[in-house]
Parts: sequence; C-alpha cells; structure tokens
Amino acid sequence: MKVTFSLIKADVGGWPGHASVHPDLIKIAEEELSKAKKDGLLIDFHVTHCGDDLELIMTHTKGENNEKIHELAWRTFKKATEKAKELKLYGAGQDLLSDAFSGNVKGMGPGVAEMEFTERKGEPVIAFMMDKTEPGAFNLPIFRAFADPFNTAGLVIDPSMHSGFIFEIWDIHEHKSVKMKIPEEMYDVLALIGAKSRFVIKRVYPKEGKLPTDEPVAVISTEKLYQIAGKYIGKDDPVAVVRAQSGLPALGEVLNPYAFPHLVSGWMRGSHNGPIMPVGVKNAICTRFDGPPRVVALGFQLSNGKLVGPVDLFDDLGFDLARRKALEIADYVRQHGPFEPHRLPLEDMEYTTLPKVMEKIKDRFKELKD
Ligand code: F6R
Ligand code: MG
Ligand code: MG
Repeated sequence: MKVTFSLIKADVGGWPGHASVHPDLIKIAEEELSKAKKDGLLIDFHVTHCGDDLELIMTHTKGENNEKIHELAWRTFKKATEKAKELKLYGAGQDLLSDAFSGNVKGMGPGVAEMEFTERKGEPVIAFMMDKTEPGAFNLPIFRAFADPFNTAGLVIDPSMHSGFIFEIWDIHEHKSVKMKIPEEMYDVLALIGAKSRFVIKRVYPKEGKLPTDEPVAVISTEKLYQIAGKYIGKDDPVAVVRAQSGLPALGEVLNPYAFPHLVSGWMRGSHNGPIMPVGVKNAICTRFDGPPRVVALGFQLSNGKLVGPVDLFDDLGFDLARRKALEIADYVRQHGPFEPHRLPLEDMEYTTLPKVMEKIKDRFKELKD
C-alpha cells in the first residue's frame, strides 16, 4: 500500500510572544483534521507544536502536493488564525502570506515535508520539528544519519545499506537541485551542505537493496519565507520526516546525531547562532532569549497509514547530556552579546539597523590616508 505522510506547519500566532502555541489553536486544528478523517480524506492525523509553530501531521493516500490536503491545511491555519486574532496572540496569522488559497500551500508561507512511499511490513517514521532556526539546521544530523559511518553502524555492517544513499540537495539561492551519491561523492556533498544557509538536503533516496529507489526515505522542508515575501519575516522553522530500520538507519541511528547540540542560525530575532536543544514536546517552549532553538521528534509505527503513536522521542534521559551541553553553549555564546559569531553575519540577519546607522554618520567618514 502506498501512503503519503504530510507534515505541514505554520506560525499563526505565538503565546506569549514567540514562545509557544495556545491550546485553543491545537484544539481547532484537531477538530478540522478530525472532520477530514471522518470524511475519508485523511487516514489519520496528529496535531502538536514546537515553540510557536502549529504542526499538522497527516497520513492519506492522495500523494504529494495534493490540492485537497493542502487546502485542508490552509483552511485549518486560517481557522486557527481567527482564534489567534480573537485572543490577540502575538503575530496572529504571520506565516499566511496570502488571503486566498491557490492550489498548494508551498510558496504561501507554511512549511511542508511530505513523501509518498510503499508502507513496509514494519514502518517506523519520525516527524522532526524545529523552532527558531532554518532548513539548513537539518543538514548536519541528516548527513550523519545517512552518511557518517561513525554515527550509523549500519553503513559499515549492514549489507542492505552498505552501498549508501542518494542525497538530493537544493541550492535555495539559485533555485536548482542536484542528486549526489554517498559515499562516492561525500567530500563534494560536504563542500555544499556545510554552507547551510544556501545548500540544503531536500530528500534522501535509497541507492539499491530492499527499498524502491524512486521513493524518498527522508524529506526536509525548504521553504524560505524571505524569498517568498521579498523581506525577512521569520527564520522558516523547518520540519522533516525520516523513515527508519530494515535497510535504513535504525531509529537510534537517526536520533543519535541530536546528542550533539550543533550550532544553528536563528534564535533571537532570527539573527543569532546558538545550539539546537533536543526536547520533549512539553519543553518545546522558546523562553531564554527566545530560545535556545529546539528540536522535537515524534515517532510512529504506520499501520496501513494509521499513526500508531506518537512516542515523544527526545523526552528521554538519553538526551539529558545534550540538553545540559546546549545550555552551557547557550550561556557561553550569549556572553558575546552583539558580536559575531553569536550575532549572524550581516547578510543573514533578519533584523538590522546598519543602513540607518550608516546613513546617519555617512558624512563623518574620512578617507584613510595609509
Ligand atoms: C525569531 C523570533 C523572535 C522575534 C523577536 C522579536 O524567529 O520570532 O525571536 O524575532 O521576539 O519580535 P518582534 O519584532 O515581533 O517584537
Ligand atoms: Mg513567531
Ligand atoms: Mg517558530
């Protein structure tokens, strides 16, 4: 059976500030998706949040980019926005860049990670959700899960994944994509994806073996709001869907990279580097300096498209040290205040006063004599 797993998210109002999502918004989303399940459009759903982002996890048989599914997500976000406006939640409707739906939520503000695949006998799927960062934040953990033999033992000792994977990488500045082979082109892949604000891993495909090579095994949202809106309006908090086991990295191999709270861009005013902290949903509330950035992972077994779960995978003491380390790093980088590399380089900042400052003092600049 072919099933489509769609994870669609939007920030339609923060509570308070940009910290979390009000329970009334979650309730509205649950009601809308529940109706769609009764009507047979969805097989199953789960609604949650990460920080101030409302997250719709849905399964169905309509395929990717389906108009009905996207319209359902759009309608749900619109309804939640009405409530957000009534409660005067912060930035109500901020990610909905248009009034009218035009067939697909892509390019309209929400973030989308969806993939269609043949459900296996046992199909573990993980929905990852990040807040206060950008799509390139997934580059490192996805690379490590699918390409780093020091993370993923299966790459070395499991014959069904020993040949590696194919990475589809997007250049989000030039709007181009390229498929590259792991491990053959590993160093070239790293040369690209290390520049995480420009090159992002979009999908991973199996190379050969047990799984169909034309069905993705991982997908990451890559929407760049500032490119859509023509100005910075947020850091495009990304989501990803990853399948695991039986010829793919084991669940624990997919999760292990998050034990290292790597530095990502975003955090306060979308303009700072900071550690990404793996947390359970109950701790996915961005408080200190509007962060530090968070990542949540909900695990499901699929049963003919039904979502058996979730298991809140980072709500586990296996990630206590990562959280502690993230807090230590947060303390350390915060002491840099307005200095790089805590504050992002000029071209990546969401907020800047520099043009105004320069304008004010431009006549006081003198040519250097030596
Ligand atoms: C980061 C984020 C927040 C806001 C900050 C200022 O992505 O959403 O850190 O940038 O709280 O928000 P405003 O300018 O709305 O007061
Ligand atoms: Mg927000
Ligand atoms: Mg957010």
